[in-house]
Amino acid sequence: MEREFVMIKPNAVKRGLTSEIIKNYEQKGLKIVAMKMIKMKKSQAERLYTQHKGKDFYEPLLEFILSGPVIVMILEGPRAIETVRNINGETDPLKASPGSIRGKYGLSVRKNIVHASDSNKNAEEEWKIFFKEEEIIEYRNGLENEL
Ligand code: RTP
Ligand code: MG
Repeated sequence: MEREFVMIKPNAVKRGLTSEIIKNYEQKGLKIVAMKMIKMKKSQAERLYTQHKGKDFYEPLLEFILSGPVIVMILEGPRAIETVRNINGETDPLKASPGSIRGKYGLSVRKNIVHASDSNKNAEEEWKIFFKEEEIIEYRNGLENEL
């Protein structure tokens, strides 16, 4: 079992896409073990995007991610990182496969609807920006019967 950190970006929340997006992960069989809506603090955004500091898109990216509420969540399942990133599609929505979340709902690289961590190490570092250990809830869902 693996855990993945996922965030629904402000443009998607404002467009009312939250339920459509979560549906993709839930119906795949991934288990939501933590979730909340927040208005991110600048210090949290800087931690989340620390690997992009200095790049030309860094400042506009911070401004965008602070422009409204985001939904942050932790999803659990077999190879959850690869599974979620496949569901999300490529970074550039115009190159993302048409069935992916970015392929279906995105037009802009910056405002590409969702974020998901790219490794186990980064997933843990990123969810720790937003969640305390006691906010992660362990329970059984229907998924166990599918494996
Ligand atoms: P993410 O981290 O959001 O899942 O996306 P990713 O791994 O596919 O993309 P990454 O290269 O890590 O970039 C992080 C986010 O920065 C914004 N970005 N803007 N040229 C640009 O304007 C540009 N390039 C990247 C996107 O919001 C991307 O998701
Ligand atoms: Mg990334």
